Amino acid sequence: MAYDFDTPVRRLGTDSVKWDGLTNRFGQKNLISMWVADMDFVSPPAVVEALQQRVAHGVYGYTRRPEDYFGALARWQNTRHNWEVDPQWVAHAPGVVASLNLLIQTFTGPGDKVMIQPPVYYPFYEVISRNKRRVVENPLAFDGTRYTMDFEDAAKKLADGVKMVILCSPHNPVGRVWTREELTRFGELCLSYGVLVVSDEIHGDLIYSQYTHTPFAAITEDFANHCVTCVSPSKTFNLAGFHSSAVVLQNSNLRQRYLATLGQLALDFTQPLTAVAFMAAYQQGGPWLDELLQYLQDNLAFVEKFMLERVPSVRVIHPEGTYLVWLDFRQLGLSSKELDHFIIDKAGLALDEGHIFGAAGEGFQRLNIACPRLVLQQAMMQLDLAVESRRLK
Ligand SMILES: Cc1ncc(COP(=O)(O)O)c(C=O)c1O
Repeated sequence: MAYDFDTPVRRLGTDSVKWDGLTNRFGQKNLISMWVADMDFVSPPAVVEALQQRVAHGVYGYTRRPEDYFGALARWQNTRHNWEVDPQWVAHAPGVVASLNLLIQTFTGPGDKVMIQPPVYYPFYEVISRNKRRVVENPLAFDGTRYTMDFEDAAKKLADGVKMVILCSPHNPVGRVWTREELTRFGELCLSYGVLVVSDEIHGDLIYSQYTHTPFAAITEDFANHCVTCVSPSKTFNLAGFHSSAVVLQNSNLRQRYLATLGQLALDFTQPLTAVAFMAAYQQGGPWLDELLQYLQDNLAFVEKFMLERVPSVRVIHPEGTYLVWLDFRQLGLSSKELDHFIIDKAGLALDEGHIFGAAGEGFQRLNIACPRLVLQQAMMQLDLAVESRRLK
């Protein structure tokens, strides 16, 4: 491998949410931190070098986006996902969650219904309710192994006056990479009820080898005109701290309205370091990402094998994308609270608790495997010991 994903990097002392924020979030600091969705890996060397050069310059005045900024993103989507994006369709966003707020404020009104598919990335609930819109849940169907969309339930909910849908594609936390067929069926349903689809594709570059990410907007021209896609280099290249992402709006009417909101709030700016990192990542990060994906795939294979052989009472829901692994602890027979305590106090791990992703997440926990293999091995051993000592009691 040309890049080093094996050597642990000490993040403590950098004010990282994941490590320095442990006590705040979990009440103790001696845990292996595998919750918040960023990676314990150094970003691509091309990004680090570009940032170092820019930092060394020493003047950090007002900065514009380089001319090719959205072009770099558009080419990336085209080469990686076969999605032809005109750079003119792309608009800046100060992070994906921020853009979800802006989109809700722009395209819905107070009291409007916004549909999501739980168990799902918990800030979806917050962005809807904080903006005084109503959450409509279209829970995913689960057969004990794999999650799918419940189209019948979706049709009922959409028929009942939903204004916007937030699609999580690929899906966090269940790891589904929606197929073209699933997305087509879902999109046709939404469009038949005139519902705007916001497709959060932040995990779209993190796809395991047998699967393909299909951008929702790339499916049909009609879909492209009735959706907004959120994309970002933040998960792909571990740049979440920059809080910089983009939205793609092919429909010029939607785009003008979004840009008006962005302008009103004076949010359409970049920062000197952000612009540099964004460009270097999209222009030069491809080979690094290819190796990262191989490393994550090997991490996943390790977890799946280890759990099957050593901790079969905990089921791994096989992810098709993302570096997040959804673990089913229901066989242990613990209440939600007991499970949370068990993971922290007995296994010494900091995971995202399943119930924060909605009621359907009760009895599950979400494991972030974007860490050096050694750390992952240690974490799995701790989990094995905790489950084993419970069994022996
Ligand atoms: C589906 C999804 N959307 C958005 C985000 C956060 O994006 P940002 O940090 O750009 O707000 C995450 C982070 O975990 C995520 O999983």
